[in-house]
Amino acid sequence: MSRSGFFFPGLLACFAVSFGITVYAPHSQIGALLPSFKDEEGLITDVYPVAQGGNAASGREVYISQGCQACHSQVVRGSESADIDRGWGSRRTVARDYIFEAPPVLGFSRIGPDLTNVGSETWRNEPETDTLRPDKRDRAWQLKHLYYPKAVVKGSNMPSYAYLFEERKISGHPSSDALVLPAHLAPKAGYEIVPSSDAKALVAYLASLNRSSPLKEAGAIAALAPVKK
Ligand code: HEC
Repeated sequence: MSRSGFFFPGLLACFAVSFGITVYAPHSQIGALLPSFKDEEGLITDVYPVAQGGNAASGREVYISQGCQACHSQVVRGSESADIDRGWGSRRTVARDYIFEAPPVLGFSRIGPDLTNVGSETWRNEPETDTLRPDKRDRAWQLKHLYYPKAVVKGSNMPSYAYLFEERKISGHPSSDALVLPAHLAPKAGYEIVPSSDAKALVAYLASLNRSSPLKEAGAIAALAPVKK
């Protein structure tokens, strides 16, 4: 007896089962996640996550267009990995952390450190006691790092993004945004190096990266010592 009549229904069944397992089931579990919040007698507080707006949202576009995600992940693994000990976060990240991101910039390799929480007070990328640790990683520090990474991180092998800055003649007063650089990198007398709007947005985005608010599905929060910002 020929069983060729089963071929197409069988093929369809295989497709339906794999669609159910790989697409429908995950989507029904996490496809409709909402932010977490506290409801105290009708007063809603501690809403997390919130959608990014303004300069940080534009900075995310710059981050993606410059390909930063080729070397930097934005996923912190839990205590089964060294991520938390390294100072990259106080808890693992979970699906809810990314609900306002389309697409989330998870990255695919870690040539550089994970940046999930680079805007938080506690983020570090060196042992806690490292004496070479920068005093602060504020906006001016981040701009200088983008302009010439070796200027602030000894032996850094991150590429320079100097093309996101402009060298221009000082007219009147120097700009408050002008980079303060060591003598061997400083521009010639009468000139200054200022960040473009893309560089400013990128740094606003980096400052906004902080996925350390507690979420119950993410488990315990590690206590990390704050570093000066
Ligand atoms: C070719 C790989 C590569 C690319 C692309 C790259 N980085 Fe990096 N990045 C690194 C490496 C390696 C380090 C560690 C050395 C250092 O800190 O400079 C690093 C470190 C960093 C740090 C942490 C510095 C610190 O110690 O606090 C930040 C922030 C950062 N990168 C942002 C960016 C941004 C934003 C982009 C895109 C404009 C980018 N990186 C593109 C490799 C890369």
